[in-house]
Amino acid sequence: MDAADLRIRTLGECRISSPLRGLVTRHGTTEHYVDETDRVLFDDTVAMLAGRNGGDLPSFEPGGPRRHIYFDPSKIRVGIVTCGGLCPGLNDVIRGLVLELTSHYGVSRIVGFRNGYRGLVARHGHDVEELTPARVQHINEHGGTVLGTSRGNQDPAEIVDCLDQLGINILFVIGGDGSMRGAQRIAREIADRDRRIAVVGVPKTIDNDIPWIGHSFGFQTAFGKATESIRAAHTEATAQPGGVGLVQLMGRHSGFIACYAALATNDADYVLIPEVPVDVDAFLPHLRRRVRERGHALVVVAEGAGQNYLPAEGTDASGNRSLGDFGIYLRRRILDDFTAAGTEINLKYIDPSYVIRSVPANPYDSVYCLRLAQAAVHAAMAGRTELVVGTWRNRFVHVPIPLAVATRNQVDPDGDLWMSVREATGQPASFTTPATDRAAA
Ligand code: F6P
Repeated sequence: MDAADLRIRTLGECRISSPLRGLVTRHGTTEHYVDETDRVLFDDTVAMLAGRNGGDLPSFEPGGPRRHIYFDPSKIRVGIVTCGGLCPGLNDVIRGLVLELTSHYGVSRIVGFRNGYRGLVARHGHDVEELTPARVQHINEHGGTVLGTSRGNQDPAEIVDCLDQLGINILFVIGGDGSMRGAQRIAREIADRDRRIAVVGVPKTIDNDIPWIGHSFGFQTAFGKATESIRAAHTEATAQPGGVGLVQLMGRHSGFIACYAALATNDADYVLIPEVPVDVDAFLPHLRRRVRERGHALVVVAEGAGQNYLPAEGTDASGNRSLGDFGIYLRRRILDDFTAAGTEINLKYIDPSYVIRSVPANPYDSVYCLRLAQAAVHAAMAGRTELVVGTWRNRFVHVPIPLAVATRNQVDPDGDLWMSVREATGQPASFTTPATDRAAA
């Protein structure tokens, strides 16, 4: 990582005095607020900083209101689109954007595009929707998105044609990594045509798999909801002889939901995630031993785990590999294994699936959504483009989209989160135990 990777593109000089300047003039950098002239360091340990030998320290541009802005609020038109799978808090973000734009900046022309990027392509025939404070009242009390959503990108040239025709100056994209790649292509098309349209993303993923943003909105709500399934599975497992609870949770490439939901309840005996390969033949005797010794066991699996046991199933409209159902596969393998060993088993399988992501945001996520929306509006009004807003070391920052989509946030098998999971579950580092151990089980 170097300083250039963290540079934010801007449409031009900010010459207009911001309606919010009164909020910022009394502030300097404090532990809660970073002045617009300051930066947020990328590295935060002495060892990492020492390794840099001074130099141009990599740092993020801070989020927040500026003293001067690029766009004249009375002259601009703003568009908002939600893309990809659902996530708790989408409506909070939409409402936050509309209220910040109208109440504080005095922007009066805001439209919502229907059903993801399709809503920006004329031939799909979706009308745009005027978004006013009255229209967005109470929407945050509901899950889903009032704008509708869809997977998949559209031709950036057609999208920029649409932005041109509607006279849009700022486009807010609320979406995951695939949608942000789309946003990047739109921003590049805008630059190629030498237009002055800002593209600002609010990253959305319940899997928490977008890097450099602290954590994603809706993630806490989703894993909180998932704990209900884990509790139910644990209650069932402890109530019967040979009780085994098996819970499958979302998490395509990243097992954060499984890890956090398991830690929140602290009852799981095993957590299986995509980042840590599992040898099912080594896992099964371990599980049988656990049930024999403790009377029951609780297994939490992220849907992306164990995919090497399942046939490849192509890709979805977002370009994500479609997953085989590892939970169902594991359920069958566990039942077969216990039966073959003559061991009593009462297995209860729960997959809450979409239940965890279609709910309204919890209060923590609602606050986070609102603050992300505020940061996104401040960035766009200041003419910043091709960025997503996020937090880094608890401070709001601007992350260039190319950086946000270059890698994936995953549980580090050598990191402290996975260490906590292993401490809580008592499971071994991996289930690739030697054959001698298998024979003894
Ligand atoms: O991308 C987030 C996610 O929740 C994944 O965990 C899950 O595999 C996927 O969406 C399923 O969504 P859909 O059925 O809408 O493709």
